[in-house]
Formats: sequence, structure tokens, C-alpha cells
Amino acid sequence: MKVGAPGIGEPAQLSDFATRIVRWQKSHGRHTLPWQNTQDPYRVWLSEIMLQQTQVSTVLEYFTRFLKRFPDVFELAAASEDDVMSLWSGLGYYSRARNMHRCARQVVSDFGGKFPPTAELLQTLPGIGRSTAAAIAAFCYGERVAILDGNVKRVLTRVLAFGADLAVSRNENALWAQATGLLPQRAVKEAMPRYTQGLMDLGSTICLARNPMCLICPVHEVCAAYREGRPQDFPVKTRKLKRSSQSIWLLWAQTPAGAVWLGKRPVPGVWAGLYCMPLFDSHESLELAVPVKYRVRLEAAEVFLHVLTHKDLHLHPVRVTVPQSVFSNPAGTPGEGAWFNADQWPALGLPAPIRKLLQGT
Ligand code: ADE
Repeated sequence: MKVGAPGIGEPAQLSDFATRIVRWQKSHGRHTLPWQNTQDPYRVWLSEIMLQQTQVSTVLEYFTRFLKRFPDVFELAAASEDDVMSLWSGLGYYSRARNMHRCARQVVSDFGGKFPPTAELLQTLPGIGRSTAAAIAAFCYGERVAILDGNVKRVLTRVLAFGADLAVSRNENALWAQATGLLPQRAVKEAMPRYTQGLMDLGSTICLARNPMCLICPVHEVCAAYREGRPQDFPVKTRKLKRSSQSIWLLWAQTPAGAVWLGKRPVPGVWAGLYCMPLFDSHESLELAVPVKYRVRLEAAEVFLHVLTHKDLHLHPVRVTVPQSVFSNPAGTPGEGAWFNADQWPALGLPAPIRKLLQGT
């Protein structure tokens, strides 16, 4: 047995957990993402919001485009909501974009354009939850605060063999406390950014949900779930997302010249704040929005499936060509609508499936 290694039945020490993570991040973690190697809270905040529910590979392109268009928080705050939504189009979870815009405005109005310097204050801003606030504070200010996003929950519940149900908030609070207890103790300012990134990197490259690569994991010696041979038993979360399914009919009205009728979706609701064709919950209600004379022209296009986190959307586009004068605002259509030419609609904030539909791809 190696000197210092735990004996049989003797748990390894968790006291060097943070040191292991930091060391591993240096040699094996990610170092060249465009939001790394900076302590600029604007960039870090932008990336963390984009990364909340989206993979790194998808975020890369959007992050670069956003920064180019809005190089600082003042530019973003001064932008119109339509411009922000249009640039966000395709990233999904659009409440992130609206909150991000509100947050930028608040940073300018309440903090003179400087992001507040602690996780506690950051958390008061729209769209910044406890874990995101901690990530920004750790990366930019070296603050000793724990992150606990989905990936990190998986890493820590395994390391600790934390078997309590995280759907119960008392248990989640207990995990937060444990996460705080595991933070680096020494050289905190330098260690915190690396430790935080290391946990994220471990969660997304090694400690995977289905096939964790325990043999090459830098903390397997101190991982209770590994020791017990049951990493897949963690985390425990009883409240399963109930998936539902919904059919939606889309009135895809065009003029002979190729303009398309689009309106801004109301908040809250599906695709809130984005531009879309009028939506209906049945073919019959869609028909009622079209003057009788033109109903014979309605033509059902191919139904397609769009999968959201909690819901499968079965989308039924129904095409119709009408003179421009026919619609000012089709009956039953929520919100305002307008005709957009082929050189106008591509610049709008459109849900990804609607953009694809309009592009004919
Ligand atoms: N996921 C959330 N934040 C991240 C980051 N900073 N780097 C990589 N993946 C992340």
C-alpha cells in the first residue's frame, strides 16, 4: 500500500479535494475558452448566462457575436429588446435573454456600469442565481464561494455519496453547506478561479451522468460513490420532470410578393418576446382567423416535432397566400402582427424552428 493511502475500510481524506481539483484543472482542464483568461465580469457574466442551459460548443459562436455587437455593458443596456432577442435567436430559453438585458440596464443604472464585487450583491440582479453569482465572483474576484449547478451537484453527491433527495430544499441546502466546506483553504484568491473551473470541467468531461470515467478521475481516491461502486446512484432526485405534449397550428400567411405575417409572442408563454406566426390550438380556431373567402386556400404543410425541456411541440404549419390588405390583425391572434418582407424577417428574433420553416430548410 502506498504511504498515505487509506487502509481497507478506511475512507480517504476529503481534505485535499480542492487541491486535487486545482492540480487537475492546471494539467487537464480547459484553458482556451474565450471567456477564460479574463477577469472582466461582463464577459464572464455573459458566458455564464449563455452556458446555463446550453453546451459550450453552441455558446462559442453566440458569445463571439454578442461581444462584437455589444462590447460592454453600456452597449448592451442601450440596445433595444428586439435587437437582443434577435441576436439570441436559436439559443433557446429566451427568458435568459430578457433577464440579461434587464440585468445590463440595472448594472448601468444602479452600479454605474460596474458589476457589483460580491456574489451576494450579484445575486440581487435579474437572471443571476446563487450558482451563477458564485461563478462570476470566483472567476473575477477570487471570492471563496461555492457553485452548485447540475454538473457540480453530480460531482459532489458522488464524492460525498450524498444520498438525500435534492428535490427537498432542506437537502439541497445541506449540499450547499458541504460544497462550501470543500472550497480551497489556502491561496484562496488564486485557487478559486481554477477550482471553480475545475469542478465544471470535471462535471462535463469525466464525471458524466451515464458513463463516468472514474479511472481517470483526479478525485476517485476520495470519492465515496466510487469506493462503493455505485456512482450512477447519485444524485438522488425524485421529482421527475413530467413531460407533456402539445399540438400547435401555425398560420403561415404570405402575400404574393413573399411577405410573411409575424407578431411578437406575449410574455409569459412559449417563445415569449420572439416573433412568430399566429399560433392556434386547433385547425378550427386557425380557420376562424382567416376570412371565409380565403379558407379554401389553406394548405397544411408537413407537421414537425420541436422538443422543449418539458414539452414536445407538434407543430402544424398551415400556409395561405392572401393579399396584403386581408390581415391587419387576424382575429384571435394574441398581440400585434405585421407583414415582413424577405429582406426583413431574417433579422428578427425568431424561434429556431420557425426560422428553419421560413428558410425552407
Ligand atoms: N458551464 C458553465 N460555466 C462554464 C464555464 N465557465 N466553462 C465551461 N463550462 C461551463
